[in-house]
Amino acid sequence: MVSESENLIEITDLCFSRGARQVFNGLNINIKRGLITAIMGPSGTGKTTLLRLITRQLIPDSGTIIVDGVDISTLNRADLYKLRRRFGMLFQNGALLTDISVFENVAFPLREHTNLSNRLIRHVVLTKLHAVGLRGAADMMPSQLSGGMARRVALARAIVMDPEFLIYDEPFVGLDPISMGVIVRLVRKMNDALDISSILVSHDVDEIATVADCSYLISDGKVAASGSPEELQKASSALVQQFMHGMADGPVAFHFEAPDYTEQLLGRDAD
Ligand SMILES: Nc1ncnc2c1ncn2[C@@H]1O[C@H](COP(=O)(O)OP(=O)(O)O)[C@@H](O)[C@H]1O
Ligand SMILES: [Mg+2]
Repeated sequence: MVSESENLIEITDLCFSRGARQVFNGLNINIKRGLITAIMGPSGTGKTTLLRLITRQLIPDSGTIIVDGVDISTLNRADLYKLRRRFGMLFQNGALLTDISVFENVAFPLREHTNLSNRLIRHVVLTKLHAVGLRGAADMMPSQLSGGMARRVALARAIVMDPEFLIYDEPFVGLDPISMGVIVRLVRKMNDALDISSILVSHDVDEIATVADCSYLISDGKVAASGSPEELQKASSALVQQFMHGMADGPVAFHFEAPDYTEQLLGRDAD
């Protein structure tokens, strides 16, 4: 029997800069197989960047990223594409193509990447739409959907190629509390029913606390805290407290770096 390592993704001493800005500065994260792992951090901490590094859309300055036992920096183009096909992605804006139906949006990856017959495509698409509760919306156009429904269609599209890993980038943004609850339950259901591993990127701590098995809190380019949601709730560092309790100010400044307020208001630098 092939023994599968418990760690699906191992990120070690990752450093990455964008221009003068050091986004990661010695980041260490282990993502375990079969679980829902949350990556949390205030906006601009590099969560989306991290997802791009994991799928090698970006290359680290130093450090290693091992996915399913393979150092991804060693992959040739063909193997990289093979690896990417094992990921399902739900992007930040869940963007659906606006001029084709819900059905065709979900069918799109199948038509692009497989030679399945129309009959099989129909079967697969309806199964995935059923899984997110929207089989009845197959013939609707994206403009007819509520925000929550659109997100669920994007989720059906993300799983249509039967991925082994499902990545969600800010899946709760802009949703009302009820739609948010629906998505939270779907994240759990997808993970367990499809026997996959999920990575959930969000700044929405309350939602994550209800669904993630393990969370990492990123700040200043490093992991500031990690553990189960309960462990994070109990963690005492001021940063964790600020983040978990949604306080506006604390170790993470409320104000983005800006010129001196008085000086700017008085227009002293406007000459
Ligand atoms: N294409 C880009 N070019 C230059 N800087 C970028 C680019 N995308 C993101 N950044 C910068 O990288 C940092 C991390 O961004 P991002 O990963 O989008 O954060 P998050 O997803 O946590 O909100 C930010 O400081 C952002 O300004
Ligand atoms: Mg982001």
